[in-house]
Amino acid sequence: MTASPDHLSAPASLLRVRGLRVHIGAGEGAVRAVDGVDLDIQPGETFALLGESGCGKSMTGLSLTRLLPLGARVLGGEVVLDGTDLLALPEERMRRERGGRVGMIFQEPMTSLNPVMTIGEQIAEAVRLHDPPHRRRPQSRVVELLRAVGIPDPERRSREYPHQLSGGMKQRVMIAIALAGRPKLLIADEPTTALDVTIQAQVLRLLKDLQRATGMAVLLITHDLGVVAQVADRVAVMYAGEIVETADRRAFFAGPRHPYGRLLFASCLTLPSVTGR
Ligand SMILES: Nc1ncnc2c1ncn2[C@@H]1O[C@H](COP(=O)(O)OP(=O)(O)OP(=O)(O)O)[C@@H](O)[C@H]1O
Ligand SMILES: [Mg+2]
Repeated sequence: MTASPDHLSAPASLLRVRGLRVHIGAGEGAVRAVDGVDLDIQPGETFALLGESGCGKSMTGLSLTRLLPLGARVLGGEVVLDGTDLLALPEERMRRERGGRVGMIFQEPMTSLNPVMTIGEQIAEAVRLHDPPHRRRPQSRVVELLRAVGIPDPERRSREYPHQLSGGMKQRVMIAIALAGRPKLLIADEPTTALDVTIQAQVLRLLKDLQRATGMAVLLITHDLGVVAQVADRVAVMYAGEIVETADRRAFFAGPRHPYGRLLFASCLTLPSVTGR
């Protein structure tokens, strides 16, 4: 272990990101999508990454497991998960981390699910890859996962295809797939944006309950102050590739310090109410 000064004073973070830089394209025209991001996520917490469209939230989330689109590349920085330097891992090791210690869910469950495979087969695939004790007989674990994400009649549902499920159900299936590897960190990129408000609240509540049950941390990427108010423990505000403010949820809603954070509030006609949980 490297003995940098903050290792000595602060408790070890689950995820530690320092100076992360991601560029898209090269030369003069390169977009600095992520421009020196620092983050610390503690075990079990919900850490919201908040900011307007195009500020670099998804690029930040994707670069943590090196899942960048063509033309994008990590120029520098450090991403350490529980002592493992993810940016230095060989690709084959990295593939075990994705869906293993790091689960991921995205905005559009329909594009992430395979339309010609039953949901049970898709969850089983993740179980086989990331949960060795259940590798040979994944079915009991599949049913357990479907039950954990609140899908009624899981045995029957596991034999259905994605088009037979509602949007909220599909997102629950995506969460089940992400949970198959018993992640320490779940990266959720706008997980409820495509859902209507009632279902959105249910899925956020589910994530919170799962988090309590499993102890996983969640990096929740969102542009929605209401979502932050509902579930975040801490908030980082991103603007033009940089994090301009990090605060506890209560301190943030009591009054963001950075001008951009204030602007976000001003653009919300009705402030979300921040209630105790
Ligand atoms: N596939 C891509 N090719 C080229 N440029 C991209 C690509 N994806 C994103 N970008 C650019 O990278 C920057 C950061 O984009 P990113 O997707 O991270 O934003 P975001 O904060 O997630 O936005 P949103 O809230 O709309 O999802 C933007 O300037 C965007 O135009
Ligand atoms: Mg995005």
